[in-house]
Amino acid sequence: MPATLLDDAARTVLNRLFSAAAQEGPALLALRDRFSGEVDGSLAAAAAEAAAEIYMPVAPEVGRLLYLLARARNAALVVEFGTSFGISTIHLAAALRDNGGGRVVTTELSATKAAAARANLAEAGFGDLVDVRVGDAFETLRDLPGPIDLLLLDGWNQLYLPLLRALEPTLASGALVIADDVTLFAEENRDYLEYVHDPANGYLNCAVPLDDGVDLAIRL
Ligand SMILES: C[S@@+](CC[C@H](N)C(=O)[O-])C[C@H]1O[C@@H](n2cnc3c(N)ncnc32)[C@H](O)[C@@H]1O
Repeated sequence: MPATLLDDAARTVLNRLFSAAAQEGPALLALRDRFSGEVDGSLAAAAAEAAAEIYMPVAPEVGRLLYLLARARNAALVVEFGTSFGISTIHLAAALRDNGGGRVVTTELSATKAAAARANLAEAGFGDLVDVRVGDAFETLRDLPGPIDLLLLDGWNQLYLPLLRALEPTLASGALVIADDVTLFAEENRDYLEYVHDPANGYLNCAVPLDDGVDLAIRL
């Protein structure tokens, strides 16, 4: 069974990106101070502009979890909210490669970051599997043909619930929904977590205590 994630091309790119991200601590804290609380409409775009050089990636162990989940689900269509420089996307695309093919549709407000992500994905060997869409997720993911096997929520946290609701009709039964940073931004994620915690809404969820908090839910 192949594990493309361990290939030289993917590892070289991931090592470089994770190293660069590890240097950004103070800039990241300043961004969080400035944009914690409400982020919607033009503020979301302003935050993306301010974060145009900030990686904010999933942690390495969260990336590994994404790979494992996409493989275990045998995912063919993966949707990602929040591409940044493509670190999480590389893990997801590697899983699709090892599943035998498929598509990651990922979206990023910053055109600069989207271009960098495309280059990183191509260098890692996954350019053919990923569709990087520039713009607001609510526009770029509109009318997406499903069924979505795995949805990663890793953009501005305040948008997780409305975006999940918008994509809900295209989620496959048994789709996995993964939300990152749910502990770090507990207040911003309160509505989202309450929603996926209530089986009446059609989900079963579980907290995964990795890094800044991951929530894993399955669409019933
Ligand atoms: C936490 S970072 C994503 C990190 C990435 N998943 C990784 O692991 O490398 C969040 C990204 O979401 C983007 N974003 C925020 N709101 C968005 C929106 N409404 N539509 C598209 N992208 C958005 C931001 O510009 C930012 O680059």
